[in-house]
Amino acid sequence: MARVTCRDHRQRVRGFGVDRKHDDIEQVLIPAEAIQQRLRELSAEIDRDYAGRKVLLVGVLKGAFIVMADMARYLTVPLEFDFMAVSSYGSATQTSGVVRILKDLDIDIAGRDVLVVEDIVDSGLTLNYLLRNLRARQPASLEIMTLLSKPDQARVEIPIRYHGFAVPNVFVVGYGLDYAENYRNLPYVGTLREEVYRS
Ligand code: IMP
Repeated sequence: MARVTCRDHRQRVRGFGVDRKHDDIEQVLIPAEAIQQRLRELSAEIDRDYAGRKVLLVGVLKGAFIVMADMARYLTVPLEFDFMAVSSYGSATQTSGVVRILKDLDIDIAGRDVLVVEDIVDSGLTLNYLLRNLRARQPASLEIMTLLSKPDQARVEIPIRYHGFAVPNVFVVGYGLDYAENYRNLPYVGTLREEVYRS
């Protein structure tokens, strides 16, 4: 069995420094601790709203996996989990509103209290499609929690029940959000250096 030396351990601990800025990040917009604090507040609100009920959390892959995992551990109401994966046609940084379901739910949501968990609502087109699709399955209730939104970009009105932070109209990465599948594991939300888009 490989032995972990003290030096390895020190390096690893340093690597996990919560706001240690990745070299490709231009600016940290929302620090890790601010995200966790907001998730604790939203979870307390959800706990109150759903007292005595069981919630089915539906995460929209891939971006929502981090926020869903963290929030689930702050919530105290009984939970079940399911995931959907969708792909939105469009350019690398803009969606078109044409959505394809890559992975559907495993659980029948008819009669269930469903809370959809999203990483970001940008134009709102993806969620607009998903909501119509999920409503047709007749859940008892259907609400939305999103960590981020870009209010200036909204092209359709989405009834967001639980909202983390509004961000300006810039492309952001971290805390589940990617650029070309990178940066999802950063514990904060930030913007990328311009050189990264050009390379
Ligand atoms: P919408 O349909 O325009 O609301 O965008 C939905 C999806 O686009 C989100 O769930 C993200 O996966 C992706 N997206 C939108 N804005 C950003 C961003 O700033 N960074 C990373 N992904 C984004």
